[in-house]
Amino acid sequence: MITVLDVRRFKAEGKRFAMLTAYDHPTARILDEAGIPVLLVGDSLATNVLGYESTLPVTMEEMLHHTRAVARGARDAMVVADMPFLSYQVSVEEGIRNAGRFVKEAGAHAVKIEGPQLELIGRLVELGIPVMGHVGLTPQSVHGDEGVGELVPEDRREEQAGREDGGGPVGAPRVGDQRGEEAARRVLDQALAIEKVGAFSIVLEAIPAELAREITARVQVPTIGIGAGPHCDGQVLVLTDLLGLSERIPKLAKPYADLRRVIAEAARAFAEEVATGAFPDEAHTYR
Ligand code: KIV
Repeated sequence: MITVLDVRRFKAEGKRFAMLTAYDHPTARILDEAGIPVLLVGDSLATNVLGYESTLPVTMEEMLHHTRAVARGARDAMVVADMPFLSYQVSVEEGIRNAGRFVKEAGAHAVKIEGPQLELIGRLVELGIPVMGHVGLTPQSVHGDEGVGELVPEDRREEQAGREDGGGPVGAPRVGDQRGEEAARRVLDQALAIEKVGAFSIVLEAIPAELAREITARVQVPTIGIGAGPHCDGQVLVLTDLLGLSERIPKLAKPYADLRRVIAEAARAFAEEVATGAFPDEAHTYR
């Protein structure tokens, strides 16, 4: 069973590692057997599985339901549950209660929290609930400056905002100008602060590779990049992007399979055989 200590050791030993999102039991079984050490039940469940426009609507109950399924499938992998929007922002007490539900009721080994929720992260670590931090693009802040910041590539902002029409805050300054430098400093400071209060790893989402390299060099805990370049200690992809199931694959993701095509072909072949009477044949019929 992969633990927080193993994840920390990956960095100490210079071993790059993969994390994937997982949302259900069969996929968790497959990823676990494939040796993926960390499975994240991301709140991207909202857009990738449940059909919401953004990650904001997904509820604690929905996240718990899918975390349970993944936890039942993970024998060796560590299961990290993403705390959904407004499950931890209202008060530290509520954050503790909800993080505790993921561990107590759903079998998660750790939780992930977006942004510099320093007091909450510190309290959870004290209570024995490991926390993965998350800085850079933080999709739960999609309507605010912090989430869709100056560093985030435009295609990612629009995609995270659930908009296809280019409705994101386009034209925001990038690294190299003053606001970009300030944003880079802010992300670095957040990562350092999150490490200081005890997070065991930090996701860096959609930030320039140079900044990710600096953060990775400055923190002792592993960084896990998504759209953050090659210098992070680990990399994470959203499963539906990896498998080619997503309708739109963002620039930061690489599809390693084309399951949309495979599924469509299988469905069409079945429908065709039903129409012609070729299925069910003798081999699939009880006598
Ligand atoms: O919800 C999610 O899938 C995530 C990853 C992009 C890190 O937070």
